[in-house]
Amino acid sequence: MKDNHFTHSDTLVFFGATGDLAYKKIFPALQAMVKRGTLNVPVIGVARQGWTLDQLCVRAKDSVEKHGGLDPAAFEKLRGLLRYVDGDYNDAATFQKLCREIGSAQRPAYYLAIPPAAFGTVVQHLSESEETRDARVIIEKPFGRDLESARALNGILLQTFDEKRIFRIDHYLGKQPVHSMLFFRFGNSLLEPFWNRTHIESVQITMAEDFGVQGRGAFYEQVGAVRDVVQNHLFQVMANLAMEPPIRTDSESIRDEKVKVLKAINPLDPKNLVRGQFKGYRAEPGVAPDSKVETFAALKLHIDSWRWRGVPFYIRAGKSLAVTCTEILIRLRQPPTMYKHYHLESNYVRLRISPDVVLGFGLNVTSPVQESQSILSELLAGRHPCAAEMDAYERVLGDAMAGDATLFAREDYVEEAWRIVDPALKAGTPVHEYEPKSWGPDEAERVAPPGGWHNPVVTGGE
Ligand code: BG6
Repeated sequence: MKDNHFTHSDTLVFFGATGDLAYKKIFPALQAMVKRGTLNVPVIGVARQGWTLDQLCVRAKDSVEKHGGLDPAAFEKLRGLLRYVDGDYNDAATFQKLCREIGSAQRPAYYLAIPPAAFGTVVQHLSESEETRDARVIIEKPFGRDLESARALNGILLQTFDEKRIFRIDHYLGKQPVHSMLFFRFGNSLLEPFWNRTHIESVQITMAEDFGVQGRGAFYEQVGAVRDVVQNHLFQVMANLAMEPPIRTDSESIRDEKVKVLKAINPLDPKNLVRGQFKGYRAEPGVAPDSKVETFAALKLHIDSWRWRGVPFYIRAGKSLAVTCTEILIRLRQPPTMYKHYHLESNYVRLRISPDVVLGFGLNVTSPVQESQSILSELLAGRHPCAAEMDAYERVLGDAMAGDATLFAREDYVEEAWRIVDPALKAGTPVHEYEPKSWGPDEAERVAPPGGWHNPVVTGGE
């Protein structure tokens, strides 16, 4: 929900216009916004490539053709909105050119789609130009690499922008099945009676990717799986699953509840983290031959709250795994049943976030062929992403420009998330090698849930 005092940004400035993220995600999102009618203000790309506006437009066209498809009418409109400023981020002249390009716009949104190392310089220059008065800033992840650097980064941003004008992107929150988890939980009365420690035995969240680092070795070497996807994307998923119903639907009420979830989690014990690295990672361009960076992580956490005390939350993420799929499995406790001679499975709720969206309830029923036996049957609702669905980047960029902070990580949230993972990351636990296309190193069993890890099966549609 939009906070009332915010009005729509009247210009979008994006730094990193010639970069990979712009190519893969931002131009397609901008075209989609134009098509949907939510973007109708100048879009100024900034980069230091020595390019012209025409070159940027060629890149933009190539980007939408490769990622999602060209919509000729929408693209033409986007081309009409595009501007380009070329220059070094260290050079004040770049920001003077930018000021001229912004002209009389009063509420620019500055989107920093650039490496974190450049954030400080850009924000410093922005603070010196007069353009920040009604501006907001949109920051890409990773937001720091530990608690200390995140605090330092927050310090830099807060010198120029107040918290309400800072939008820290976690594109996972823009995914329809992720942000609609709250609606699913709080728009149905069926779930709440069992959504607690009395009935739930464990929760596991798996984000598996069957590809490697795809040429991003140099970036990945700086992060690893925990910083890349666990501390941000998967913690957000966990917070959506575990939070209390917010008292209102405004962004702060929702974000307050998410922060409370993280506050209830003790720092990750290094013995509850297993790190792995796929065979072949060290031969990737940009990767050190003796790299100790993890491409796989499995961990166990506890949320020490009234609702969740004693229920372990398991998180697993990795590159070069058997499938590409993000899925949650919530296992329920066994009933105190009189059917002792049946082999009963745990009831479960299965929520698949991607590649398709699936909601499954696992239930024991008697076998129609042999009634003395129980079989597990799944009540299933599923759908494939539909063409009109908003992509995550379209959603988060549109929300930031509209001033709706709900899907963005607040300062306290980011710092809590780092507080949890920091000690385990700094402990330098061993990195175990695993075969590509597997489910990670065998050592992951050490932190496996009761009943074992649930490995999602992807069949090309359920
Ligand atoms: C990014 C990570 O934030 O999320 C990538 O840096 C990861 O390593 C990606 O592959 C996954 O997001 P999506 O939307 O492609 O599933």
